[in-house]
Amino acid sequence: MIDLRSDTVTKPTPAMREAMAKAEVGDDVYGEDPTVNRLEEIAAQTMGKEAAVFVPTGTMGNLLAILSHCARGQEVILGDNSHVFYYERGNAAVVGGLPYHIVPNDHFGMIDPQHVINAIRGSDIHLPPTGLLCLENTHNRSGGTVLSVKQVNTLCRVAHERNVPVHMDGARLFNAAVYLGCKVSEIVAELDSVQFCLSKGLGAPVGSMIAGTKDFIAKTRAYRKMLGGGMRQAGVLAAAGLIALTEMPETLHDDHLNARRMAESLNLIPGLNVNMETIQTNIIMVELDQTGPTAAEWLSQLKKAGVLAGAAGQYRVRFVTHHDLNRSDIETALTAIAHLEI
Ligand SMILES: Cc1ncc(COP(=O)(O)O)c(C=O)c1O
Repeated sequence: MIDLRSDTVTKPTPAMREAMAKAEVGDDVYGEDPTVNRLEEIAAQTMGKEAAVFVPTGTMGNLLAILSHCARGQEVILGDNSHVFYYERGNAAVVGGLPYHIVPNDHFGMIDPQHVINAIRGSDIHLPPTGLLCLENTHNRSGGTVLSVKQVNTLCRVAHERNVPVHMDGARLFNAAVYLGCKVSEIVAELDSVQFCLSKGLGAPVGSMIAGTKDFIAKTRAYRKMLGGGMRQAGVLAAAGLIALTEMPETLHDDHLNARRMAESLNLIPGLNVNMETIQTNIIMVELDQTGPTAAEWLSQLKKAGVLAGAAGQYRVRFVTHHDLNRSDIETALTAIAHLEI
């Protein structure tokens, strides 16, 4: 099977497994795991922030950040196509009593600054106060598209001018940096906090980081404990995370080239349509002709032909390239797909 469902399917590399086996560990809830401590230090330095914390998942990282920025009853401004809104079970609303205020994402995951300004509430007693603006980079449901440093900074400026902090769901932040040809720290410089995943394109088996100020990270640690995310000898996982963070970003460029190659070929198949403008990183969204099979029907044909992908809508299929697939796997998948009826 050639598994293009997600970059979350990547397996730890041999170097990660070796580092995991040899990791020095301690009780991380007591702050005594040297490998976790090193990972947190390097993550903070890489992001250009004061501190960072290791958490089990991106979903938990976003939730802890949102809880730490907001007081119960405050609104969180979010894109209508954002992962936090779409795929995280409404957790900030359920767990934190934090309602979502949805604003439109454009086809590239950008939010119009004027929509943010309009969404930020005044001091009228009837209105829920605004607690946070959340951005996402790269933008999953738009097809891994990238917000530029300028776009991020513009959104930070309009929020900060109104005393609203800004968090970024940077699950694939390193993919954004590779596309922009800049350091991750440049993308997040104006943000109050960022969450990024070690477990996606960077290949670690588990884990995400949140970075921000020291005080903010202390709050996220308290919420992590509250939600049961305080892990003990987590250095076994952090050892793989260290390799993900320091050695794997340079591999993302190949994933992006494979995605472009794949998107160009898929676009030539009658009945399939890819908006090439959105092919910026490692995600390909394919629109199927609505006169042909649905995404579910086409995906089951793909599976029989040895290719796994995911549905992103009734007539929309998502392919994600990643470290465990090389150019020849992509060619094999394309040949199999070209032989299917659509
Ligand atoms: C943009 C984005 N944010 C957050 C997450 C959540 O990460 P996790 O699966 O580690 O909870 C994902 C997962 O796919 C994602 O794509």
